[in-house]
Amino acid sequence: MADSTLDISPTLSKADFYSELCGQLEVILEGETDAVARMSTIAAALGSLGKYLWAGFYIVRGEELVLGPFNGPLACFRIAKGRGVCGQAWEQNENLLVPNVHEFTGHIACSSASNSEIVIPLRRKTGEVWAVLDVDHVMINGLDEADLRGLTKLALLVTI
Ligand code: SME
Repeated sequence: MADSTLDISPTLSKADFYSELCGQLEVILEGETDAVARMSTIAAALGSLGKYLWAGFYIVRGEELVLGPFNGPLACFRIAKGRGVCGQAWEQNENLLVPNVHEFTGHIACSSASNSEIVIPLRRKTGEVWAVLDVDHVMINGLDEADLRGLTKLALLVTI
């Protein structure tokens, strides 16, 4: 793979934007089976869009999430099960959309610039969560249901 960059029109609706993003990433990721390589590429691609404050992965290690490939400001290394948005999404095995992180009890502020957040569990075929995709935005309501739907589809690209 060489010189792969995303080319997405800024005028698209969010639904079309994510559809285009997933389509282009599928082409970029084609043939690569390693989950870390795929996560790294997805995090870098999300960062290259300039839309999000932070985009990356935390990986389940025992009773904790450990920081994985990401793009954005330095972030906390470990999050216990049930702690923060990430730990709760893992424990509940549910997508979490947090329009205002200041109203989310237990939110972990890795960056004071983050104001909204989406966390999506990545599941094995058995349904067990093995990692989460975490995306942060600088604005309150910066992420909405359309982002949640799009990022949920995107998260499915990690494993093949
Ligand atoms: N805000 C997250 C912590 C991770 S950072 O956003 C990168 C949480 O509450 O779990």
